[in-house]
Amino acid sequence: MGKRPAHWSAALTELLSTVGTRGSRDFVQRNSRYVEWRLRHPLRSFTDFYVAEESKRLDAGMVHPSLGRNRVLFDGYPMVQLLIKAGLQADHRLVDYGCGSLRLGRELIAYLAPDRYWGLDVTARFFRDGLQDCPPDLIREKRPRLALISRRVLRELAASPPDFVIVSGVFHHIPLRQTAQVMRNLARISGQHTKVYIGFLASDVFEQVGPYSFRHPPSLLLDLARRAGLGGELLRLTDQEDLAKPIRTGLMRLERLSAPLG
Ligand SMILES: C[S@@+](CC[C@H](N)C(=O)[O-])C[C@H]1O[C@@H](n2cnc3c(N)ncnc32)[C@H](O)[C@@H]1O
Repeated sequence: MGKRPAHWSAALTELLSTVGTRGSRDFVQRNSRYVEWRLRHPLRSFTDFYVAEESKRLDAGMVHPSLGRNRVLFDGYPMVQLLIKAGLQADHRLVDYGCGSLRLGRELIAYLAPDRYWGLDVTARFFRDGLQDCPPDLIREKRPRLALISRRVLRELAASPPDFVIVSGVFHHIPLRQTAQVMRNLARISGQHTKVYIGFLASDVFEQVGPYSFRHPPSLLLDLARRAGLGGELLRLTDQEDLAKPIRTGLMRLERLSAPLG
């Protein structure tokens, strides 16, 4: 949550810098809902707006590609197979950062040994839906740890870093201003042995494509990662033409730099 702005013009300036696309032609149209919501909720954040909007859509029974109980698209299985090929073993500890409704989580919980899966998110609303869809025996046996992202959880992970961190479909809901902070959180919970995999929506320049959807050039994410103390590489860019709106997805792998940049 942000501080209460001194006056409305400060609030509006903050709104614009939060979204970070002041030059965009469609800026006003894309952000009118956020501006209107934020004026009614001056103490809440862009992420609160995103959660409120998505929750409203899920509560109305709308189908979502990855969240809620009516998920349609984007099977989590291929990503889990990729992690296993990259060395993920059953006794490794893995953090699913922005785990949503456990699209990947469900497969990962099944694969990993008890207590090894940690799903973190900014709201419990989404992972509660995911839990309801998991077989109760699986949850009893594997005891996944599901938690809100908080200083306490980040401190706990920093003290005992996981083997893998997966961040899938999360950055495209994070406004530019918060992206660096999320990279710093990822760096904080990464030890020398931690492998961080980020799946994201890619574009040539940073762009806002919906009220709470952004696309990033890989170079921007790699640069923010490096500043946070994580170095790595883009593994692949894939054009998916078969969807209603074609998208380009990216996948990168990061590791902790021994000497972080300033
Ligand atoms: C499209 S869903 C993807 C969920 C899951 N990772 C998957 O692949 O199915 C985006 C997720 O990012 C989470 N999220 C949004 N802003 C976040 C932030 N600032 N930090 C961490 N997670 C965030 C949302 O709550 C949501 O669960």
